[in-house]
Amino acid sequence: MYMSEVRKPLMGALLALSLAASTATAGSEMKKNVDGAVMYPTEKGHYQAYAVNTQSKKGFSAYGRTPTAAEIKAWDKDVMPDGTGLPEGKGSVEQGDELFADQCAMCHGDFGMGGKGYPTLSGGQGTLKNQLVDAAAGDEPPVRTIGSYWPYASTLFWYIQSAMPFPHPKSLSNDETYALVAYLLSVNEIEIDGQELDDDYVLDRAKFLKIKMPNRDGFYPNVDGGVGSKEVAKFLNNPENYGKGTRCMKGCKDGKVSPIKFELKDFKPAMSTTRDLPKEEGSKTVSKGQKLYEAKCSACHANAAIGAPVVGDKEAWAKVTAKGIDVVYKHALSGFNAMPPKGGNMDLSDAIVKEIVDYMIEASK
Ligand code: HEC
Ligand code: HEC
Repeated sequence: MYMSEVRKPLMGALLALSLAASTATAGSEMKKNVDGAVMYPTEKGHYQAYAVNTQSKKGFSAYGRTPTAAEIKAWDKDVMPDGTGLPEGKGSVEQGDELFADQCAMCHGDFGMGGKGYPTLSGGQGTLKNQLVDAAAGDEPPVRTIGSYWPYASTLFWYIQSAMPFPHPKSLSNDETYALVAYLLSVNEIEIDGQELDDDYVLDRAKFLKIKMPNRDGFYPNVDGGVGSKEVAKFLNNPENYGKGTRCMKGCKDGKVSPIKFELKDFKPAMSTTRDLPKEEGSKTVSKGQKLYEAKCSACHANAAIGAPVVGDKEAWAKVTAKGIDVVYKHALSGFNAMPPKGGNMDLSDAIVKEIVDYMIEASK
């Protein structure tokens, strides 16, 4: 859609307003609008507050201006797995260690071990296969970290540089980022080209491009293109890819393989595996009293906040029925404190209201 066509009538009205206000301050050099903002000339003698675009006066670009190449470059920092966008620079594991202690450990824990509620950055390698955790065999539940999960180190570089440290991102130089990546690889015991990353190890661009992350092949196959479906079939036919190498379609829980280690068992009410469809409306099992209760009374009586005895609350209804059924009927029919007569449904016959009350009492035993 071409914006300026639509915008014109509205803008005309706004400008008329602003111009009226600006004449009130005639005499001062710069024109000002109602809230005191300086009005700059845009086109044909019209004014706008704080919206000068000398480059274009058409469409959306009349707001703000086109960013400069340098500004785009400052944001466009992503690094691709093939090394595109990766700057030159270098940093050692030791430097990274110091930076990490100063700027990262307060959230990510010493050595990136987590535990403070922020993402864990180390450990967990090999645990992602434990989708079915066999506690007896000492399986750890899956722990997802950069070392166990991330397929490419390139993400690590640009993620850290553009997003971390969390409170003041974009503050790390290229060298500092290399040092932090080196440190994080070392605490994840990732080697580069067969070499361990000890304290003196200096990571630079050339070495970075040789990094092979442990989980680089751990993702689903590429599903695009002509061979996509074949690759998926091959992947799914290998149970190693999603379990312990044994297919298990029934009795998995009671057999050798147990499901998740920290299984929740203390559901209240107990978890049900019965799959009943909800009762059909109007079927014999739903009484007229229940149906009308749901339509006319449940707005208040299913909600403790309103102060009405909640249907199903045994105690509350024991107190109600202790008054004797005739009193209860009378209250339902003629009202009682915040209970309106017939719950506000004067079209219901007395007999019907009593039927509803009977249902409410029955459902609260
Ligand atoms: C104030 C707390 C804080 C500080 C300090 C901090 N981070 Fe983070 N970090 C976070 C949070 C929160 C996330 C998750 C952000 C999200 O998922 O959107 C995160 C995510 C990460 C991740 C991605 C982890 C993953 O598995 O998704 C990395 C890598 C990382 N931070 C590295 C660093 C480095 C390196 C530093 C120091 C230069 C640092 N962080 C400082 C809070 C912090
Ligand atoms: C606008 C909210 C509201 C609606 C709608 C409503 N009630 Fe009530 N009802 C109350 C409140 C509040 C009380 C508690 C009054 C008290 O104990 O002071 C109450 C109490 C009752 C009681 C117990 C009276 C007693 O003696 O303690 C009965 C029976 C009852 N309602 C029946 C009904 C029926 C039947 C309907 C629908 C036809 C209905 N109510 C609709 C608010 C409502």
